[in-house]
Amino acid sequence: MRNYRKREHIENYLRSSFRGDPLFDDVFLYHNALPGVNFEAVDTTVDFLGRTIAFPLMINAMTGGTDFSTDINTNLAELAKAFNIPMAVGSMTIAMEDDDAKKSFKTVRDTIGDGILIGNLSGYTGVDTAKYCVDLIGADALQIHLNPAQELAMNEGERDFSSVLKNLEAVIGAVDVPVIVKEVGFGLSPDTITRLYDIGVRNVDIAGFGGSNFFEVENLRTPDTDVSDLYSWGIPTAMSLIEAVKVRQDGLYIIASGGVRNALDVVKCLVLGGDLVGISGEVLSYLIHGGYDYTLSYLRELMTKARMVMALSGASNVAALKGLPYRVKGDLKDLLDKIY
Ligand code: FNR
Repeated sequence: MRNYRKREHIENYLRSSFRGDPLFDDVFLYHNALPGVNFEAVDTTVDFLGRTIAFPLMINAMTGGTDFSTDINTNLAELAKAFNIPMAVGSMTIAMEDDDAKKSFKTVRDTIGDGILIGNLSGYTGVDTAKYCVDLIGADALQIHLNPAQELAMNEGERDFSSVLKNLEAVIGAVDVPVIVKEVGFGLSPDTITRLYDIGVRNVDIAGFGGSNFFEVENLRTPDTDVSDLYSWGIPTAMSLIEAVKVRQDGLYIIASGGVRNALDVVKCLVLGGDLVGISGEVLSYLIHGGYDYTLSYLRELMTKARMVMALSGASNVAALKGLPYRVKGDLKDLLDKIY
């Protein structure tokens, strides 16, 4: 069942057609005609989980545990390794079901070598499973996804969300790697972020609205329960990020993701205050439609163009992006104007 669902998620993502808006176009960055930097010397390295990575981007959680997803993950791990950037596997619950699934996840670790690899489980996962999955792939961190909208859209999905926060607290206390709490494309509100911080969460991935849409991905699996009128539900990534940064407390690491497609999106996320940027659906589209080399070129060009935008913003390194002024306009401005 889970095996089949994994394949459907990929297939349905690829045939989804609703295009939400992460509102990156409503963020304006200033051009700097006197950048005062040497383009060739623009430094994109950042520290993540105590290691230096080449660029502030991660390939975010998508799949794993089946033959079909082993091929995809092997390619993603090779890409992550080639660029020295982190990668997260998709939900590992399936690894508890059979040996082939375990092998599939281990293959990702074998492929990425000593690169940063992040495990992924749901907010319902128990402590023992969490520890097991971290060990299985030698995970450098563990993502826990919060996905209530997706669950409600699935006929077989969870309906009781009342124990998730308590469960999370137990998992954080039990595993010996950092935990990253993420959404799956509906965004994290400031209140959610504060409640997560209060139970000890120090890494969040806002995974906002405007990219992969799990109302649609699930709807295509279960057309008998039509939720197409809910496709616009979610907090656009730019809004979720700006509000997350506003309520950021000491030591909170913010990953910005959801609808990231190009170099400008990446740089905007960093200027808005994100520490790292995550990308899922767009990489998957390139990989399935164009293959490994095409995806390699896409990511290489994205990184080169991001360095160009950094130079044109007068930033010689990633830290310098954080203090840059920016403006917001349009829907984003309206949304940030006032909370009712
Ligand atoms: C996902 N995503 C996801 N997230 C997660 O935490 N565990 C998972 O198993 C999956 N599976 C998955 C499958 C597919 C096919 C896609 C496209 C996505 C969600 C993903 O990590 C990310 O949060 C969202 O997709 C938003 O980012 P993008 O796709 O808009 O860049």
